[in-house]
Amino acid sequence: MHTRRIGDVEVSAIGLGGMPMSIEGRPDEARSIATIHAALDAGVTLIDTADAYHRDADEVGHNESLIAKALASHDLGRDVLVATKGGHLRPGDGSWTLDGSPRHLKQACEASLSRLGVEAIGLYQFHRPDPRVPYADSVGAVRELLDEGKIRLAGISNANPDQIRLANEILGGRLVSVQNQFSPAFRSSEPELRLCDELGIAFLPWSPLGGISRAGELGSAHAPFARIAQAHGVSPQRATLAWMLAKSPVVVPIPGASRPETIRDSAAATELVLGADEIAELDGA
Ligand SMILES: NC(=O)c1ccc[n+]([C@@H]2O[C@H](COP(=O)([O-])OP(=O)(O)OC[C@H]3O[C@@H](n4cnc5c(N)ncnc54)[C@H](OP(=O)(O)O)[C@@H]3O)[C@@H](O)[C@H]2O)c1
Repeated sequence: MHTRRIGDVEVSAIGLGGMPMSIEGRPDEARSIATIHAALDAGVTLIDTADAYHRDADEVGHNESLIAKALASHDLGRDVLVATKGGHLRPGDGSWTLDGSPRHLKQACEASLSRLGVEAIGLYQFHRPDPRVPYADSVGAVRELLDEGKIRLAGISNANPDQIRLANEILGGRLVSVQNQFSPAFRSSEPELRLCDELGIAFLPWSPLGGISRAGELGSAHAPFARIAQAHGVSPQRATLAWMLAKSPVVVPIPGASRPETIRDSAAATELVLGADEIAELDGA
């Protein structure tokens, strides 16, 4: 498995997105644990999660608890960077709400620390800007968590270029990652990806395969990806991740999975090298 860097931490170039194992349509716990263990066995050393990855109102942090359990029951678990987030909430009716207030972020971080069973969170990401709270205040809370040693690395998510610059300034140049939506169907985060490349900040594409309900259709919905995948004898999903990895050394995709075979297939994308002509074709597709 090839590696990349998030701050000073070396991680697998493909991470595991934990969301499908905890929201609506999730599998039973045994399959989720098997999926996380399959990721570790394949060399994955980055797992993305959030306190808001849960289904019902009374199970905040379902995904964090699941990951902690899976890591504790696997020999390789200790070397994994767990990247969690705060600032989103799920009231239990399927919706996603926001609270980017410093008070909430600090409480949320404490709760995540306890669920993950660690003294410091590997990577803590401010999940999404809250229009009711000045962005600088939300990121200021993350800076305090960093200064207090409650988190080892600080990241943001769903941010535009101005917010990336502002966050990096507030964090005193210590912003290590930006997690934005990016996939063959959703490319409007290209400016953020390019800015991260320029600043040497990791860029984590979320829903890299088009999202939980669309990932299976990737081959039929995007013909060039399907054709190039076929030429290499791999899945369209694997070809998509290889295309993303080729965009910049700061890119670290985090495909979600709820089955061992899908994360195994995605993890192998780090071994797939596409030709310059193929990358150019997919860039323009
Ligand atoms: N920051 C944010 O606001 C935000 C928002 C959304 C997501 N995220 C993060 O990004 C991660 C990824 O996004 P996502 O889970 O929404 O969507 P995604 O990664 O685009 O798609 C996930 C689905 O792809 C399928 N899949 C994965 N690898 C595959 C392969 N090689 N071949 C065929 N199917 C494959 C999985 O199927 P199976 O379930 O059958 O394994 C899974 O359900 C999330 O898990 C979460 O950690 C962050």
